[in-house]
Amino acid sequence: MSTSPNKTAVITGAAGGIGKALAKRFVERGVNLVLVDLKQDAVEQVIKELGLNDSNSLAVAADVSKEEDVQNYVAKAVEKFGTIDYFANNAGIEGPSGLIEEQSVQALDLVYNVNVRGVFLGLHYVVPVMKKQQSGAILNTSSLAGLMGAPGMSPYIMSKHAVIGLTRVTANELAAHGIRVNAVLPGTINTRMMRQIEQNFGDVEAFKSANEAATPMGRYGEPEEVAAVMNFLLSDEASFVTASLYTVDGGMIGQ
Ligand SMILES: NC(=O)c1ccc[n+]([C@@H]2O[C@H](COP(=O)([O-])OP(=O)(O)OC[C@H]3O[C@@H](n4cnc5c(N)ncnc54)[C@H](O)[C@@H]3O)[C@@H](O)[C@H]2O)c1
Repeated sequence: MSTSPNKTAVITGAAGGIGKALAKRFVERGVNLVLVDLKQDAVEQVIKELGLNDSNSLAVAADVSKEEDVQNYVAKAVEKFGTIDYFANNAGIEGPSGLIEEQSVQALDLVYNVNVRGVFLGLHYVVPVMKKQQSGAILNTSSLAGLMGAPGMSPYIMSKHAVIGLTRVTANELAAHGIRVNAVLPGTINTRMMRQIEQNFGDVEAFKSANEAATPMGRYGEPEEVAAVMNFLLSDEASFVTASLYTVDGGMIGQ
């Protein structure tokens, strides 16, 4: 992959497994990074770990479900670097596990606010910046849960289906403006989120084995394997790719 100097990427959920792995790929390309997550110290820790400095990075604490926080991270990115060339709209939460009658309305609102409202708000405020540039690439993080209806996580599954809808709408609206919008759909990936989901389902080993058995490649994916695909989609290598759904799932969807 060639380098992309003088370009700027915004990554939400940047202190998490997949966000951090993507940030690392962008560092290799020489892209300026605006890293967004709930806690300032967590994002600053990533900046330190990746050897970034004040001239090529910015840490912004934001709750992506809060409109003023989203406005703020977009404004700060533009103020510091002038453009937003790549946007990884990636922050997400899993929410509780349980059958539909066990899920609370509070759980629904919580997951919806981060995974759908947060993705919508990111698009709502980043798109005008990219339209002004008449260029840009956006990648929304959906999930295999955006295509499948596995039992026990209705708020999460609903939210990730919604991300696909948002991807398709915006890809259509923005194609004529030189802006591409795609979605990445990871399967079971080794991050904090999967550790939490395993615990939510009770028997960690049984849940993990069942997931591995349901994956033709017989294992969980690593965040770096998701980041490699994200990095491609957020680059000029993917210049004719928009409105696409990229599964990174060891073959689970192909069965
Ligand atoms: N790990 C998997 O198996 C898997 C599978 C499919 C999709 N995904 C999706 O990938 C994305 C990244 O997840 P991950 O696996 O890296 O998990 P993770 O928990 O390691 O990272 C998620 C990050 O999002 C941040 N975040 C949560 N709520 C936020 C909010 N309101 N505002 C700002 N930041 C917030 C968290 O602090 C965390 O750093 C999520 O959208 C997730 O749904 C993950």
